[in-house]
Amino acid sequence: MIAMGVASSAGLNAAQAEGTVNVYSYRQPFLIQPLLDAFTEKTGIDTEVLFLDKGLEDRIAAEGENSPADVILTVDIGRLINVEEKGITQTVDSETINENIPAEFRDPEGQWFGLTTRGRVVYASKDRVEQDTITYEELADPKWKGKICLRSGQHMYNIALFASMIAHHGEEKAEEWMKGLKANLARKPNGNDRAQAQGIYSGECDLGIGNTYYVGKMLTNEEEPEQKEWANAIKVLFPNSEERGTHVNISGMAMAKHAPNRENALKLMEFLASAEAQSIYAEENFEYPVLPGAEVSEMVKSFGEIKPDSLPLEEIAKHRKAASEMVDRVGLDEGPES
Ligand SMILES: [Fe+2]
Repeated sequence: MIAMGVASSAGLNAAQAEGTVNVYSYRQPFLIQPLLDAFTEKTGIDTEVLFLDKGLEDRIAAEGENSPADVILTVDIGRLINVEEKGITQTVDSETINENIPAEFRDPEGQWFGLTTRGRVVYASKDRVEQDTITYEELADPKWKGKICLRSGQHMYNIALFASMIAHHGEEKAEEWMKGLKANLARKPNGNDRAQAQGIYSGECDLGIGNTYYVGKMLTNEEEPEQKEWANAIKVLFPNSEERGTHVNISGMAMAKHAPNRENALKLMEFLASAEAQSIYAEENFEYPVLPGAEVSEMVKSFGEIKPDSLPLEEIAKHRKAASEMVDRVGLDEGPES
């Protein structure tokens, strides 16, 4: 693994000499490129992205002191805490960042910082679902039997949601709920969040669970315009908005422990927390900026107002393992029939 890491990061090592900020990213390049382009335009500092869909933490750990990684970008509170626990981050103490990112969205020691939030909402068929409010708890109600589409229960987005159910209700009740959810599934969990909207469009299910920004991404998808139809078939319901609020997760950043270009990396991190970048996150990615007062995009506003669950992110992270074990125990990913 070490040999592979060194060999394939040769390109990054070359770039590092010129003060380029090397970004190791779990976020897809098309999502972050507009931000990096704006950063380069503003500062003249180049960036290079290494996108990994798994093993980012192990790779940086294996590269050790020679790692070209400067900044780590990822989604999910679990992954942010993971990079910290792996010991591949370092403390960042920046007045700019600390002023822009509220304390509840960052590590107290500056090992990681949230940049955006996203709601884990219910996608509901415009044609077949009349109600305009819902709770997560209700997804286990037998009235939805055969009507719910879900991506894998082991996906980090669902794990965080299930962890929040454990935090709110305790393991026993959460497990009863998960059994009810499984019994209501229309099919074996598969696909990504967008595929759940597609399932509603095709009539396979009436409800799905997905993140808010995918609705914006689908509605504006010129490359795959059929996704506009999927998104047009659904309405966004913000679960539990009349009580504790909707489960939200974050995307965020961290400074790599051995960042070779620390100074420029810090500039990038400060930029990502700035009003300019926060507005790009809102307008182009349809995420919720963490910067207080930053505007949400008009499209996201049109979904309705989100009331985020105030459960601390660390509390959610604590229950992730239990949530993952519960998914296996319940057999959620085996679908409704097993
Ligand atoms: Fe996503």
